[in-house]
Amino acid sequence: MANIAMLGYGTVGSGVVELVCSNKDKFVKGMNVGLKLSKILVRDIEKYSGSKYRAKITDNFDEVMKADVDIVVEAMGGVYPSYDYVKRALESKKHVVTANKDLIAEHGAKLLDIANSNGVELRFEASVGGGIPILKSISDCLVGNNIRSVKAILNGTTNFILSKMNDEGMQYEDALKAAQELGFAEADPSSDVLGLDAARKLSILSTMAFQKKVDWKEINAIGINDIDSDDFRYAKGRGCSIKLLAISKMADESIYASVAPVMVRADSQLGGIHNEYNAVLVEGDAVGDVMFSGKGAGMMPTASAMFGDIADIIQNRKENPMMFDYEPADMQNLWEKESRWLLRVRSGSRIEVMKKLGDAFSNCSILAGEFGAEGDEVAAFVKAKDESQIDRCMDDLKGSIELKGFKKIMVLED
Ligand code: NAP
Ligand code: HSE
Repeated sequence: MANIAMLGYGTVGSGVVELVCSNKDKFVKGMNVGLKLSKILVRDIEKYSGSKYRAKITDNFDEVMKADVDIVVEAMGGVYPSYDYVKRALESKKHVVTANKDLIAEHGAKLLDIANSNGVELRFEASVGGGIPILKSISDCLVGNNIRSVKAILNGTTNFILSKMNDEGMQYEDALKAAQELGFAEADPSSDVLGLDAARKLSILSTMAFQKKVDWKEINAIGINDIDSDDFRYAKGRGCSIKLLAISKMADESIYASVAPVMVRADSQLGGIHNEYNAVLVEGDAVGDVMFSGKGAGMMPTASAMFGDIADIIQNRKENPMMFDYEPADMQNLWEKESRWLLRVRSGSRIEVMKKLGDAFSNCSILAGEFGAEGDEVAAFVKAKDESQIDRCMDDLKGSIELKGFKKIMVLED
């Protein structure tokens, strides 16, 4: 019998309980192992007075540790007290499965080390891409490749919000509220909308892909909270949509990593990813481009990934061990490839701005007419040698006229 204890019984935890209960006899025939739910840890026990699992529910972690437990499934979220509970579980020689990217991005290396030294497993497939089996694909199926780049939509909440704003003209606040009601958003949704959740997932993915420690705090993260209806209008004028893209790539000896709203062609692979779906486009030197996509948030897709980890542990499937204690990567934050950018500049002098942009970029198209800017704004698509050329131009503008606002959004054309 494999005894499962749940830490957390919210959106994800309740989905895992449903799968554990509906699959409890799955391994009996081949392996003579059944699944049993032993304990469920929550914060507020009163909320669960009418639950059919009431007898198993506790708000005391010590009670969980005293019960018969082989696998602890952590779906509480946050770094503390999750870190202490996961550490104690591993030190007590219990396997751990977690969906917690905050925890893995912050303490993954240390916890994997504790798991190894106690001869147990720590698995975290659901921490990146929800139901998409991406970590196992990187560590096992693509092991023969040097990964060159990762371009990904890694946050379901923001992709849902951007899709609703773009496709249905929904207001940002209404779309965020809907994402919260559907269970996609974090307890504090600012980590979703500010790009921090995607940065943590990109750090986990990139650390595994490039075998260098990519610290999430060193990833330049720009969220979607500043995206407005004019950005969508300008994007549509070029046949593009806007996605919160997490990009990492090897650049000589360093690693470029960023999370930011980016324009992609609406008919491209990433442009076709809508609502809570996530996608990861991996470029390997042997395989070329491989695209993974599926539901990146929500109760059952996430539970599906966690159940896969539980099954691996029960079936003792030890593929390549998940590694995390690599040398820190030398990080780079500026995009070094020639690309097109949307620039939006608000000032008291539109003529001066247009002249400066025309002088700075040989390829500069000022937007006018149906897709043009209004009021005190100049909007232009420019082609820049690299991102630092954009930043230099803006510094130059700031030095000569008073700017009321400035925004840059890259266009991903390949
Ligand atoms: P949630 O709905 O807010 O549920 C959290 C659960 O953990 C609740 O049952 C809560 O208890 C319990 N909990 C929180 N702090 C606790 C504490 N200190 N002690 C005991 N119990 C505690 O969160 P969720 O959406 O399921 O997310 C859980 C984790 O999965 C997070 O790490 C999240 O990032 C990750 N994740 C979520 C999704 C998704 O789509 N939602 C997808 C992938 C990964 P009460 O019910 O008593 O408050
Ligand atoms: N809040 C996260 C998201 C949950 O929206 O992607 C899945 O990790």
